[in-house]
Amino acid sequence: MTVASSAAQAFRDAYGAEPTGLWAAPGRVNLIGEHTDYNDGFVLPFALPQHVVAAASPAEGTDWTVCSTFTEGSVSFGATQPGDVEGWAGYVAGIVWALQEAGFDVPPARIAFASDVPVGAGVSSSAALESATLTALVELGGLNLPVAERPALAQRAENLYVGAPTGIMDQSASIRCTEGRALFLDCRSLAVEQIPFDLAADGRAILIINSNAPHQHVDGEYGARRKSCEEAARILGVPALRDVTLDGLDAALARLDDDVTRRRVRHIVTENQRVLDTVELLRSGRIREIGPLMTASHASMRDDFEITVAQVDVAVEAALAAGAYGARMTGGGFGGCVLALIDADRADETTAAVERAYAEHEFTAPTTWSAVPGPGAARLP
Ligand code: GLA
Repeated sequence: MTVASSAAQAFRDAYGAEPTGLWAAPGRVNLIGEHTDYNDGFVLPFALPQHVVAAASPAEGTDWTVCSTFTEGSVSFGATQPGDVEGWAGYVAGIVWALQEAGFDVPPARIAFASDVPVGAGVSSSAALESATLTALVELGGLNLPVAERPALAQRAENLYVGAPTGIMDQSASIRCTEGRALFLDCRSLAVEQIPFDLAADGRAILIINSNAPHQHVDGEYGARRKSCEEAARILGVPALRDVTLDGLDAALARLDDDVTRRRVRHIVTENQRVLDTVELLRSGRIREIGPLMTASHASMRDDFEITVAQVDVAVEAALAAGAYGARMTGGGFGGCVLALIDADRADETTAAVERAYAEHEFTAPTTWSAVPGPGAARLP
């Protein structure tokens, strides 16, 4: 059964009717540009083929009722305040809240969700849930919310309702990505450019390696990184680290006393440049040549930003030793997935090499799949 048909079936089972429509929103991986989003910098994510599907209909009364194939029972809520609804339904309530805060008359609805986006793998299953909810409610209510403004609204749900201090990348990716392309997003102006990323035509693939490492201390460490970056920007007298250029990096570092802060800054400044360099190469179709930038990004996350764990470092090393052009952890860090850029016919060998390395280290086995850029959030036909 497809995710869409599971969602439709869950809707029928729970509510005894056909849904008005099905809305899908994908998870994402980020090709390059990590922790740059909340520094007003650049990111380059693409949408995964895996998605969350919301089967939804308008409802009588004043409440929203949600259920899913991944939990028992259903949750109903009316108007709520941040934090009132917890667990996965909190992301849905957060979207309703953020829409209301923005002045929209949100249509009461019944929704059933299904998903094949892995949870806890750092591929934004929560942003996919938010984006599917938002897209469904906007269309059901005929709300006048342009696509370009939707990610910021979904981010407010995540930041203020759920309470996670994340940037705007994940919701932007889930909502604005397009098939066959990577999304070049300027997180300050929110300008986007769809960058051709036709891996198959180039004979390449992106192997996604889920490290299956237990996510630990993610929230606290994420918030600490963000705080360090903001503090550094304050000391340097710039609105955000985006405003420190590569040419000005040494001078900026010389003004910072603390070695940890210096390394955090160096990651952000060099990572922004790596995104720009990657985009340049992809614009001229030089896919293979982005490999070294990916690998340099990983080293920077490992040594300067200190957000990797042994499992992702080992996966990167094993993929490179097996001939990958480049490899890096993707997402917020402390576990999650590694992306390896490989020749399309090398997926099995690369997977086997990573599995062997994991066995040697007695890590839980990884899960791998090859991904091509899929479409962003949309109503399904
Ligand atoms: C998480 C956050 C994003 C971004 C990445 C790191 O996915 O939700 O906003 O900061 O980490 O690049």
